[in-house]
Amino acid sequence: MRRLEPAGTADLAEAYAYPVTEPWLRANMVASADGAATRGGLTEGLGGPADRRLLSLLRALSDVVIVGASTVRAEGYGPVRPREWWGDLRKGRPPVPPLAILSRSLDFDFDAPVFTEALTPTIVVTCPSAPAERVRACEKRAEVIVTGGEWADAGAALDALAERGFVRQLTEGGPRLLAEFVAARRLDELCLTMSPQLTAGDAARVLNGPAMEPMPLRLGHVLQDDDFVFLRYVRG
Ligand SMILES: NC(=O)c1ccc[n+]([C@@H]2O[C@H](COP(=O)([O-])OP(=O)(O)OC[C@H]3O[C@@H](n4cnc5c(N)ncnc54)[C@H](OP(=O)(O)O)[C@@H]3O)[C@@H](O)[C@H]2O)c1
Repeated sequence: MRRLEPAGTADLAEAYAYPVTEPWLRANMVASADGAATRGGLTEGLGGPADRRLLSLLRALSDVVIVGASTVRAEGYGPVRPREWWGDLRKGRPPVPPLAILSRSLDFDFDAPVFTEALTPTIVVTCPSAPAERVRACEKRAEVIVTGGEWADAGAALDALAERGFVRQLTEGGPRLLAEFVAARRLDELCLTMSPQLTAGDAARVLNGPAMEPMPLRLGHVLQDDDFVFLRYVRG
């Protein structure tokens, strides 16, 4: 098993390179060893320095970071910030990937930094059932994509992003959104950080949705840092 630290940025970028020929959806999630996707309602208590570095690297490699609105609200998401150590990973592309937030309620503070301080404008993916006045407020602060009906269609959302050139797609969840992508059979890769702790309780797993036909996975690689394990699975 290879160690994540002290692998250089170039080594890690190579290990996590996207395929070049087609749109590709990668998820990056963290779970405790007994499968909890949150501790105290957040991910903070599960991660560590190497996990945060990997999250940042995966952002640097992506064209867009796709996230559910509950995660944005729970984690107080700000816009993606560039890091000096990214070097030339963003060469020929905007300095950071935009966030693409899925939401039906559009229950956001549109004056929050995630909208006002984004170096690459934030995108909101919503549906026709979203409140019209919230859509108008949102349009002043973000590019708005409307798909689906009662809810946005998860697959159509990914297609709409790919049509705009965002083909190297990274989703950071949350578990409900990730379950939708998997149910739509659109997930290509899962990067799963296993956090060395047991928590029990009723926290969601990294997928939180109705039971479905299992999706087989193939192991791409395993990295390790201290007691953390970083699994990279691709669609089987
Ligand atoms: N372990 C990890 O790696 C990880 C990663 C991310 C988050 N988390 C944790 O997970 C929790 C939040 O995740 P969650 O699973 O509850 O929620 P989530 O997936 O982050 O967001 C769900 C929300 O996204 C919007 N949404 C999802 N699908 C949609 C669709 N098809 N059309 C329109 N809107 C859609 C809706 O927003 P509206 O309500 O605005 O309509 C929905 O309520 C937090 O506690 C966070 O800390 C853990």
